[in-house]
Amino acid sequence: MSPIAQEVARRRTFGIISHPDAGKTTLTEKLLYFSGAIQMAGTVKGKKTGKFATSDWMEIEKQRGISVASSVMQFDYREHVINLLDTPGHQDFSEDTYRVLTAVDSALMVIDAAKGVEEQTIKLLNVCRLRDTPIVTFMNKYDREVRDSLELLDEVESVLKIQCAPITWPIGMGKTFRGVYHILKDEILLFSPGEDRNIEDVEVIKGIDNARLDELFPLEIEHTRMELELVRGASHPFDLEAFLAGAQTPVFFGSAINNFGVREILNALIDWAPAPQHRDATVRDVKPDEEKFSGFVFKIQANMDPKHRDRIAFLRVCSGKFERGMKMKHLRLERDVAANSVVTFMASSREQVEEAYAGDIIGVPNHGNIQIGDSFSEGEKLAFTGIPYFAPELFRSVRIKNPLKLKQLQKGLQQLGEEGAVQVFKPLSGADMILGAVGVLQFEVVKSRLENEYGVDAVFENCAINTARWVSCDDQRMLADFEKGLILNLARDAADNLTYLAPNRVNLQLAQERWPKVAFHATREHA
Ligand code: G4P
Repeated sequence: MSPIAQEVARRRTFGIISHPDAGKTTLTEKLLYFSGAIQMAGTVKGKKTGKFATSDWMEIEKQRGISVASSVMQFDYREHVINLLDTPGHQDFSEDTYRVLTAVDSALMVIDAAKGVEEQTIKLLNVCRLRDTPIVTFMNKYDREVRDSLELLDEVESVLKIQCAPITWPIGMGKTFRGVYHILKDEILLFSPGEDRNIEDVEVIKGIDNARLDELFPLEIEHTRMELELVRGASHPFDLEAFLAGAQTPVFFGSAINNFGVREILNALIDWAPAPQHRDATVRDVKPDEEKFSGFVFKIQANMDPKHRDRIAFLRVCSGKFERGMKMKHLRLERDVAANSVVTFMASSREQVEEAYAGDIIGVPNHGNIQIGDSFSEGEKLAFTGIPYFAPELFRSVRIKNPLKLKQLQKGLQQLGEEGAVQVFKPLSGADMILGAVGVLQFEVVKSRLENEYGVDAVFENCAINTARWVSCDDQRMLADFEKGLILNLARDAADNLTYLAPNRVNLQLAQERWPKVAFHATREHA
């Protein structure tokens, strides 16, 4: 194996998907704590401790106590390099989350076992499905009264349409939560509550029929033995290939807050989840262990550090080795970028990166010339695909109070649009810019950033637009007729794509019926 292939083989890049409040932040913190990346639990989330998370850069996040922006955390565990990509759980930021999921090789799905499969989980799982991303499932909060475990598995199978293979099985719940039975290893991990308990302290009892279990908790173990009969009959044995194909998910049970079940998940990610995979780069498939460096940008964040007022492009390395000081080519602009100040994301700080391999995320500081979806290489013309934009569902028209600030407004919207904070449309007729978002909170963030970062006092107003579709047509003459006929409904987005803005669904349907040769797209990939 080449040195690069060895580095690739020991990397795992994953994201956590969950509905808000299922326990993603808690679990992230325990993963970092457990791996030794952070010294003290309670540093990821600042609500209680007064400190703020590595991921809480923006003022608005602090005010609301939600994690708006995704961040990246790298840590070592069992001689592997783990890249954990944080995804905002709040539904208003799902666009950002979707894009982060294009940069992972596997995902960890956290479910609040008291609630089961929730709306946001469904959406996120559907995004994972676009690329058949393998998924590990964690049923959380067994220290509370939760729903029947078999029922939960059934719900995951029927609602999320993915086979479940339980790897552990809970013994009791709430006040009588005793631990989990590891089905593959035939051993019981005993539960003892405690937030800062060291994971290595877990007591293990071998064998489900061990008489000690009957002494310790006769009622619960009897019930578990009965349940296990049913589980064996009703569920699927773990099948690595089905997992890697995204068709089956190994399921673990535990309690994130009590640090219980966390080690098993990390082990599953290392033992089963895929190392960085090959990627489609339009002209060819790019393998992770190729000698030459390549990668793509899946996220841009501006002004992460208010002291520096910088923009960081988050680039996933797809092949080869990145070394500090090397030249990499920005393929859209056909320009070399000197990669001296590129950063990596350790759990506790941003650090200068010396080298990085496929699966790693590096941060490229820039002044606004890098966009989401941009590809980089050592020179070869590659164009990585698969970064989705989703048709926005909410719209606002933008006005400014001080017309002298028009230039700043345009610059701000251009940059925020490139960053993916909001989608920006310029109507073919009419002067006001239109903003499109998936969630209302996006508008608030944009408004406050226009004010703070660009000095623009903008007014956002409701407008009579209900839905958007990107349009394309192979027949250029027909497209020109279409543009002329429907000019009042058409706009161009930040990347100059023609977009149909419809006041309501019926109008959209009529337009589609009248122009059968014009294609209306609900998503577009970054060009
Ligand atoms: P999120 O990032 O997915 O939104 O969830 P987060 O980790 O913030 O967890 C949401 C709530 O669930 C938190 O309580 C957290 O303490 C709790 N929680 C997480 N894991 C467990 C678990 O295993 N058992 C129990 N019983 N609770 C768990 P909160 O009161 O909303 O927040 P906080 O004020 O305690 O931070």
